[in-house]
Amino acid sequence: MQTVSLDHGQLAFVQQGTGLPVVLVHGFPFDHRMWQHPLATLAADAHVVVPDLRGFGSSSGLADPLTMSQLADDLAQLVAALEISQPICLVGLSMGGYIAFEFWRRHRKLLGGLVLCDTKAETDTPQALQNRHRMAEHVLAYGTELVAQAMLPNLVAAETVSQQPRVMELLRTMIVETGVETIAAAQRGMALRQDATSWLAEIDVPTLVVAGENDQLTPAAAMHAMAQSIPDAEFVSVPAAGHMAPLENPAVVTDAIRQHLVRRM
Ligand code: MLT
Repeated sequence: MQTVSLDHGQLAFVQQGTGLPVVLVHGFPFDHRMWQHPLATLAADAHVVVPDLRGFGSSSGLADPLTMSQLADDLAQLVAALEISQPICLVGLSMGGYIAFEFWRRHRKLLGGLVLCDTKAETDTPQALQNRHRMAEHVLAYGTELVAQAMLPNLVAAETVSQQPRVMELLRTMIVETGVETIAAAQRGMALRQDATSWLAEIDVPTLVVAGENDQLTPAAAMHAMAQSIPDAEFVSVPAAGHMAPLENPAVVTDAIRQHLVRRM
């Protein structure tokens, strides 16, 4: 991995290929490895940059709470540090999508297109907020193994559990290797995020919305409705996939992103 010094610390990232700049932003609590398949394929005709967000993977400089606006600003600094002058296509999964909404709001001039993958615009219900704060306390007290146990069953489609042991192992590894302070800080940061629902009608870049057909956390029907609220959006449903569609069915997700880049950007 390469690193770049930003205001807050060192940000680690991988980059591959040349052409249209595409930044792939991981979800919670993962790192750049969740994008391994799209990275390899998209880099054939794009400049693909895949960071470990602040505090995750090999990146330092954790803040608590870790807010979506801080993480969006980090991405803008990364784009500047890499001297990328063309507007980027920002691809975000789940928490990466929350960051993508903030990036659109705060750094519109840097943005040429969006891919919102297995994410949502709404903030949390009172119950979900409570769960975030509970996980923040529990991970600090008991460690990441419990987080993996709690999260894994809801992350993927049933067929992924039974047929893709390597995907399950990678997901588990990424979760247990994430620092306990990072998990707590990111939960507190996500709890503070703004509701992006009212922004959807104003999103003025070509947008692709990608949903795992069996996503239990951000259901495909809700994502379809979200796509209909964005003026220039297309929707793709990914078969045999849950919330982690880019790992579960990478061919369909990568092809949808490629077509978005070629036809609409
Ligand atoms: C993610 O995959 O990034 C999480 O599901 C986001 C969240 O906890 O809301």
